[in-house]
Amino acid sequence: MSESVNYGYLNGEFKPVNEINVSIESKGFNYGLGCFGGVRAYWNETQSQLYIFRALDHFKRLALSAKILVMSPPNSPEESVAILKELLRKNDTRQNTYIRPLLYHDSNEITPEFLEDDTSFAIYTRPLNHYFNTDTGLKLCVSSWRRISDNSIPGRIKATGAYVNSALAKHQAKKAGYDDAIFLTESGEVSEASAAHIFIVRNGKLISPPSTTDNLEGITRRTVLEIVAPELGLEVEERKISRTELYVADEVFLCGTGAEIAPVTEIDSRIVGDGKVGEISKKCQSTYWDIAKGNNEKYLNLLTPIW
Ligand SMILES: Cc1ncc(COP(=O)(O)O)c(C=O)c1O
Repeated sequence: MSESVNYGYLNGEFKPVNEINVSIESKGFNYGLGCFGGVRAYWNETQSQLYIFRALDHFKRLALSAKILVMSPPNSPEESVAILKELLRKNDTRQNTYIRPLLYHDSNEITPEFLEDDTSFAIYTRPLNHYFNTDTGLKLCVSSWRRISDNSIPGRIKATGAYVNSALAKHQAKKAGYDDAIFLTESGEVSEASAAHIFIVRNGKLISPPSTTDNLEGITRRTVLEIVAPELGLEVEERKISRTELYVADEVFLCGTGAEIAPVTEIDSRIVGDGKVGEISKKCQSTYWDIAKGNNEKYLNLLTPIW
């Protein structure tokens, strides 16, 4: 074991990541026939502990993605958590880390067809503090790109090929000077951001569009709805949101494993609320971090300690 080597995992073997390669003939590479997860582990300095947040839930969601993409994952979600723990230990991980498990169809046939016996399983990790600026408030736009519908490429799962849709919207938003984009569905309802869910706050209530509006079955969104909001005594509602409701919301925030809880202060050049990071968003953010980083004893069952 060496601190300078960054190990990854592929089909039963731990190897330096730069020695793990995918064939140019692989269907996973040619057609995007794969799915992935995005998991976080937080380093808790006071406890000298690394905690993976909701590891089993992430691998269970990956298994659902695999089901839709007709894959045979070589490992169960429980076995995958054990593999990830071993990888983090091998890498001597003692910092905030982003974890990327991947399942992909790895045969070299030319037809874009699912084979049930060609599934490869890989994981790599890398240091990550924040994905978004979580302090000052994001500036977003509503994208002219529509969210892919469940009847074309299901946004309910993290299909690798589906991220062309995210990249188109993100590129357009960044070029126009925004931090990220909000997708509408084909029928014009608010869906989600390029790689995060959206919440609006109206009259003290948290409102978020359900997964039936073509967004990912989100682990952070569920954490906000089922744990963070009750902790704070906040009412929640899952329902469709129309575009102009974004403009009149008191507060808006994005959430996701990478995104964490990121307040939004501007949408389509309109000020959200009073233009400052909202008080409810701030409370949700700190409650979420306490839970995810192992500072709230009540929720240690959601964490997998590494050391
Ligand atoms: C398209 C999309 N939506 C939402 C999210 C947030 O989901 P989660 O909270 O499960 O990470 C992500 C990131 O994983 C994503 O890629």
